[in-house]
Amino acid sequence: MTTTAQAYAISHWPNTDELVARGRRLVAEPLRPIRRDAMQAYLDYFETRCAGSKRSTAAAAKYIPGGVQHNLAFNYPFPLSIARADGAYLWDVDGNRYIDFLQAGGPTVLGSNYAPVRERVIEVLNECGPVTGLFHEYEYKLAALINRHMPSVEMFRMLGSGTEACMAAIRAARNFTGRSKIIKVGGAYHGWSDQLVFGTRIPGSGMFEAAGIPESTLQHTQEIYPNDVDGENGLHALLERNKNDGGTAAVIVEPLGPESASRPVQRDFNSRVRMLCDAYGALLIFDEVVTGFRIGLGGAQGYFDITPDLTVFGKCVAGGFPAAGGVGGRADIMRTFAAGIGGGQQKTLVGGTLSANPLSAAAGYFAILEMERTNAPVLAGRAGDKLCAGLQAVIEAFGLPFFVYNHGSILHLETHGVLWLDISDADFFPKLSERRKIAEEMGAAYSAEGIITLAGSRLYTSMADTDEVIAQAVAGFRRVFESVERVH
Ligand SMILES: Cc1ncc(COP(=O)(O)O)c(C=O)c1O
Repeated sequence: MTTTAQAYAISHWPNTDELVARGRRLVAEPLRPIRRDAMQAYLDYFETRCAGSKRSTAAAAKYIPGGVQHNLAFNYPFPLSIARADGAYLWDVDGNRYIDFLQAGGPTVLGSNYAPVRERVIEVLNECGPVTGLFHEYEYKLAALINRHMPSVEMFRMLGSGTEACMAAIRAARNFTGRSKIIKVGGAYHGWSDQLVFGTRIPGSGMFEAAGIPESTLQHTQEIYPNDVDGENGLHALLERNKNDGGTAAVIVEPLGPESASRPVQRDFNSRVRMLCDAYGALLIFDEVVTGFRIGLGGAQGYFDITPDLTVFGKCVAGGFPAAGGVGGRADIMRTFAAGIGGGQQKTLVGGTLSANPLSAAAGYFAILEMERTNAPVLAGRAGDKLCAGLQAVIEAFGLPFFVYNHGSILHLETHGVLWLDISDADFFPKLSERRKIAEEMGAAYSAEGIITLAGSRLYTSMADTDEVIAQAVAGFRRVFESVERVH
């Protein structure tokens, strides 16, 4: 565990009840879109200043579904084509500069394209190339470093992505416990594997996003509503019911709340889950794909002082380099990944030609060392606090129903409330489509003001976000919010 004065990025825990009330209020209120004249000016920005992006992504659409390969890049009115990244900024192919609050979806706490890590990775590449299929010492160095910061990770198995790591974690949990059920929190994203696309993004949505996945594949995956521990269909009741129906192998949580706390959880939620897992003999899996190293080198488990049985890693574990994933935890469970066929415990099968290649392992190792040296998670968290306070002031100044909150360097800026919609509402689908439109427009307006966000509602800060960067960003958001339609 780190010994610095402030080891974690979260300076205060947001008031969850108040946020839930604000989320509900936001979706009950009339929509607050950007005024049509202002929106037209933002769209003109794309037409006049982003011709290169438009041309190349339109050409790509012939060969790539949607014109871009990455879900996060499907932006309105068309995707931007990025040519350069450095620290707090991105530049598109037309030479426009943007403040980068997407941060590639979270892995770059040190800032984009951070030279001290890049240079070490290039040394490794020059020496042995990106992959050999045989052991490289950085595999050991990375696993030992993770263990130093997260003692619960007694052993670590590196994989190719967070999705693979989540798959591996639930498979190991089932193999180790001999039980079948996996309980997740509705709204949480644990990658796109067949068994975990259930209750994705919107709590209670079950198979809503599971197109192409047979129902039988998901028969042992269950969801609870965020924060529902004691309710009729809450965690406790479900664990009790499962006792006579295959038993619960594991409860998997995003420790700050589903979708990186798009639906925030109460401060004591995880400790209550831990206690119930112990009572029912279910394993507790922390999905730290986003929180791991970002909110502190000890992860969410260090922040909450909770020991999960298994931890899932992604993103930061390869320092913003490719093939970022892994699962770690209790040695007795982790050993099943190496168990021989027939010898007592059956092997939990995982693999991956490019998993744990020297490039990814070295990148993760050096990035975590740099985060340690610079205290990057805490610096990124302070930038998040400042951005949150600045946005809060702008929202209040214009009397808007929007709200913003952060857990250190993870911010949520709610202007449309898509993820707060209630799936049982008879008007869910029309509301979803009109609110999605607002989300798209907000994202486009922020980009035209020189700010890249994740889907117009989530922002990741990094160590590179100086006070000057935050001030520039707040000024850009102010111009967007100034153009929001007034309610008469
Ligand atoms: C909490 C969480 N788990 C798992 C994943 C999947 O990771 P990957 O995109 O590396 O497959 C993500 C990705 O955003 C995530 O946020």
